[in-house]
Amino acid sequence: MSELKTPHAGDDKSRDDDVVSLLMRQHGDIRNLFDEVERSKGEERRDAFRRLVRLLAVHETAEEEVVHPFVRRSIEGGEQVVKDRLAEEKSAKETLSTLDDTDTDDPKFMPQLMMLRRDVQEHARAEERYEFTHIRRSTDATNLAAMAKAVKAAEAMAPTRPHPGVESGAKNVALGPVAALMDRTKDAVRKAMGNG
Ligand SMILES: [Fe+2]
Ligand SMILES: [Fe+2]
Repeated sequence: MSELKTPHAGDDKSRDDDVVSLLMRQHGDIRNLFDEVERSKGEERRDAFRRLVRLLAVHETAEEEVVHPFVRRSIEGGEQVVKDRLAEEKSAKETLSTLDDTDTDDPKFMPQLMMLRRDVQEHARAEERYEFTHIRRSTDATNLAAMAKAVKAAEAMAPTRPHPGVESGAKNVALGPVAALMDRTKDAVRKAMGNG
């Protein structure tokens, strides 16, 4: 069986002080996790799907807390841009919750996963085009780094590597339901932004 490789937080430390690079890398991690879910089976698929759900949850939470507020106040027409992104996120979350109730071995799982993948990818492309490209132009390195710090605090809540082994056993703790994970992520992000 071929080894599954997923880029992981910390593999690319060089641009972690730039919130846009960091979020783009997360979009890549999400894409790779979709691939991993698609090409695995049984327990391995269940595990990959769990990691995908967690990463999506913390990524979207970080964007809601960090990116959208910035776009709203600093970019022309930002109010409407954020409204459009939130509508996309809502639709992706609905698909996600249907999928979360379906066993990964159920024949209905793959078609639903494809729908989610399409929603998530369209959403990511729109963010890159209408938000990310404007963020770099609208602020300085200090602020990009401050936002990156908050996104990294969120990312720490969602390990993307397959089955943490003995060497990282501490990370193998069950993270609980997605809603609770989002709440904890929100707290971590707000604390990193200095207003938690
Ligand atoms: Fe998003
Ligand atoms: Fe995103």
